[in-house]
Amino acid sequence: MFIVKNLLTENNTLNQKDNNNLQEGKIQKNIAIIQNAIDILNRFFMAFRTARIYEPNNLLLLRQIRAITLRIQNFFDTEEEAYFMLRQSSLYFNAIKLKFGYSNYYLFKFISQEFKKRDISILQFHSGLSVDELEKLIFLLSKKENQSNIQFDEFNAKFKKNGFLHISIEKSPDELSGSNEKNASKIFFLSITHLKDIFSSKEENGRPFLLTTRRLMQSFLNNIMENESFLHGLTNIKNFDEYTLNHSVNVCILSLSLGKRLGLERNELVNLGISAFAHDFGKVDIPLDILVKPSTLDEIERKIIEKHPQYGAERLMQIQELDSLPPEAFHVAMEHHFREDKNGYPRYVKKENTHLFSKIVKITDYFDAITTRRPYRKKVFTRTEALNLMLEKIGIEFDPIILKVFVQMMGACPIGSIVLLDTGEIGIVHEINAESVFMLRPKVKLITDSAREKIDGPIIDLTEKYAQTNKYKRTMVKSLDSEKYNIRVPDYFMAQVQ
Ligand SMILES: [Fe+2]
Ligand SMILES: [Fe+2]
Repeated sequence: MFIVKNLLTENNTLNQKDNNNLQEGKIQKNIAIIQNAIDILNRFFMAFRTARIYEPNNLLLLRQIRAITLRIQNFFDTEEEAYFMLRQSSLYFNAIKLKFGYSNYYLFKFISQEFKKRDISILQFHSGLSVDELEKLIFLLSKKENQSNIQFDEFNAKFKKNGFLHISIEKSPDELSGSNEKNASKIFFLSITHLKDIFSSKEENGRPFLLTTRRLMQSFLNNIMENESFLHGLTNIKNFDEYTLNHSVNVCILSLSLGKRLGLERNELVNLGISAFAHDFGKVDIPLDILVKPSTLDEIERKIIEKHPQYGAERLMQIQELDSLPPEAFHVAMEHHFREDKNGYPRYVKKENTHLFSKIVKITDYFDAITTRRPYRKKVFTRTEALNLMLEKIGIEFDPIILKVFVQMMGACPIGSIVLLDTGEIGIVHEINAESVFMLRPKVKLITDSAREKIDGPIIDLTEKYAQTNKYKRTMVKSLDSEKYNIRVPDYFMAQVQ
């Protein structure tokens, strides 16, 4: 824990100088995106009103719809996605907040009402959107019988009947945190099921893979923005299903969080998420008896395992919709076992210019692997031990700056760690304190009292002080090995969603 603390007090050079030049360009780009998005809304508003009066195939309406389709399609020349999102009374386009003035406030009112009426949070368009689809959508929304308030599920059933391939909607997250957690866990398990489908699928049809994966990434990102602690907590759930599946989802969640902290934009994060999600696809082609062999691998077996990056890249090549697959996915599949000192495998590939995404996944992959029990792994590291071990390999195995940001993100005691307090109580780290000076003072869920009797205790904040003495009520003494104390961390996180 001390190594972690010392390193984090060093100057972190990542955030400042280099970013300044990029800012100006980004601002200009965002202004253009906002103008385009408002223009689309304006046209959408007019088409909506026209659709109420006229029948489908009306020429005037068709012209309007064609213009909107074209504008949306244009976005895909430079952007990976096009979506409107309503969050806490603000409207966003591709994660950029749209600002409305006095003259166009009616547009905001119109779209937010249409969203709220149906409990929709996100309306997303995908590359390949056709005039027909947009026309269907506009008629669906403007129909008189669809104008009253309706539950999302009910509306979604109608929406699905239209068979939209390039338009998707998402439900508004409930404001209550409990429901948000349910949402996060739903996405977590959904992605495991999704990945399982891909792994077991004989036909290599890339389309459903990419559309669903993209949507999952959007949901992960929304949850990371709102409920990161809980999603990190879920990564404690190991071996829910076959290891590779669970592992891929964990690596994806942690990579998205790390990418966000490194300043990646939303569309870059979606690509990072897909790449991380698919990093071990090649393991499908490794015989299971080698993958789970309890004893040490011999030379031949090791060489077979080391082929999974190449197999993964080959599998990705087979995806039909190859041009919508982010190119970074190939880098990550091939490079996630590269080391900073240019060792690692595949040995035959020259390890120059390793992609940033591969360096990110290298770290999250390693962390998740050594904190998971496997038949061949003699020692499972606690989360704190894992961070310390990784810091010993800084600059050798891992990129120094990215690793420091990762350690900072996980905190000195990552979510899910078991900790002993100076009161004698034992707790599970529930939420990291956002202020780095309070990194060793997270929120902790008490699971034993000071006599070590198991309790379903409250969540306490380690920054709380006694008013009279100004002394902290509780302080962490050390982190404990959950196995030694027979504590099943996953049970605790699962209990929150049942
Ligand atoms: Fe791997
Ligand atoms: Fe992996």
